[in-house]
Amino acid sequence: MATIEVKNVAKKYGKKTVLEKLSLTVKDGECFTLLGPSGCGKTVLLRLIAGFEVPDEGTISIGEDLVADGSSRRIIAPNERGLGVVFQDYAVWPHKNVYQNIAYPLELAKVPAEELKKRVMDTVHLVGLTNLEKRLPSELSGGQQQRVALARALVARPALLLLDEPLCNLDANLREEMRFEIKMLQRNLGVTILYVTHDQEVALAISDRVGIMDEKGTIRQIASPEEIFEHPVDEFVFRFMGVTNILDVRIEGGKALLADGTPVPWLKDGELPAEGTKWHVGFRPSDVMLLPAGEGVPSAIRRASFLGAMTEYRLDLGGQEIRTEVDTLTMHMDSGLFKEGDPCGIGLRQIHWFPAEEKEDA
Ligand SMILES: Nc1ncnc2c1ncn2[C@@H]1O[C@H](COP(=O)(O)OP(=O)(O)OP(=O)(O)O)[C@@H](O)[C@H]1O
Ligand SMILES: [Mg+2]
Repeated sequence: MATIEVKNVAKKYGKKTVLEKLSLTVKDGECFTLLGPSGCGKTVLLRLIAGFEVPDEGTISIGEDLVADGSSRRIIAPNERGLGVVFQDYAVWPHKNVYQNIAYPLELAKVPAEELKKRVMDTVHLVGLTNLEKRLPSELSGGQQQRVALARALVARPALLLLDEPLCNLDANLREEMRFEIKMLQRNLGVTILYVTHDQEVALAISDRVGIMDEKGTIRQIASPEEIFEHPVDEFVFRFMGVTNILDVRIEGGKALLADGTPVPWLKDGELPAEGTKWHVGFRPSDVMLLPAGEGVPSAIRRASFLGAMTEYRLDLGGQEIRTEVDTLTMHMDSGLFKEGDPCGIGLRQIHWFPAEEKEDA
């Protein structure tokens, strides 16, 4: 069973606590993405799972094996954990060419020559390095080196893959292609993947489940990509999933009021929150409906940017600026495009309410 179980793991460097009682289970055959801001401890966690670091507390199991135990400092060596790993710095061996780099894990495993050659070349094609087999890493771009590291991790067909930002140096097209390939590998070969990144688009595209980690190394939510996107548990998670609009709302005199006193008609779960409380209302640009002046909450267009298929508007809402994006063609067919300075109305398809204190965390 290719599962990973991290239980109450703590890790400190000197006085700095990076992880504190972190628990996480990656199920057999799933693609689990851990998403979090820079410096939150993603690489540290992968190094702990891979066996390059020892936890101060807690345990890590891979399949049936307890591979690390903080209390007894017990540890199983990295090469005995049956993992394929691609680290962020994709350290490939500088003195070996592409072919030799990729072949190395199979040589260690004493794979017969014929099969070794076939598997190395299959993997070379898979990651798009055809005809570069004889090059040294110093003769490759950063993205190409990253693909060598990915190929080296894949060639031994591990049941478990740990990937640390493995696509960050690739251009947009290649990144999308490799993302797709990683997903296919997981589906076709049944590989279990733990993927860490701060790119929410990758996370949404390839994951069965996503874990959102904050800068303190605490996991805020673990759920499917759809659940995380539609039902974020808090403002941190919501803000982490792309461009957002956040408005200050206060509850006063039986009304929900925006910063400038404009009453808002949107209620929390159909109810008004407690008198005197402060809230943030969050929504995405795609949740905003632009209406003709006189409908919805009154507003005006501050700025319009034509982006081709989409047009972006910056609008005033209750004294704060918000962003929306509309489909240019649909807009033309409906009411015509709004221009800067035009009055308009605003409706919202969906909003999320968050207690206002959350802001400091985000
Ligand atoms: N060997 C070490 N000694 C001391 N501090 C370390 C060490 N390794 C990591 N840290 C610290 O641990 C914290 C988490 O680092 P980590 O590399 O896991 O972040 P990350 O989430 O992978 O960030 P990024 O997205 O930028 O890669 C950082 O504050 C880092 O400075
Ligand atoms: Mg990292």
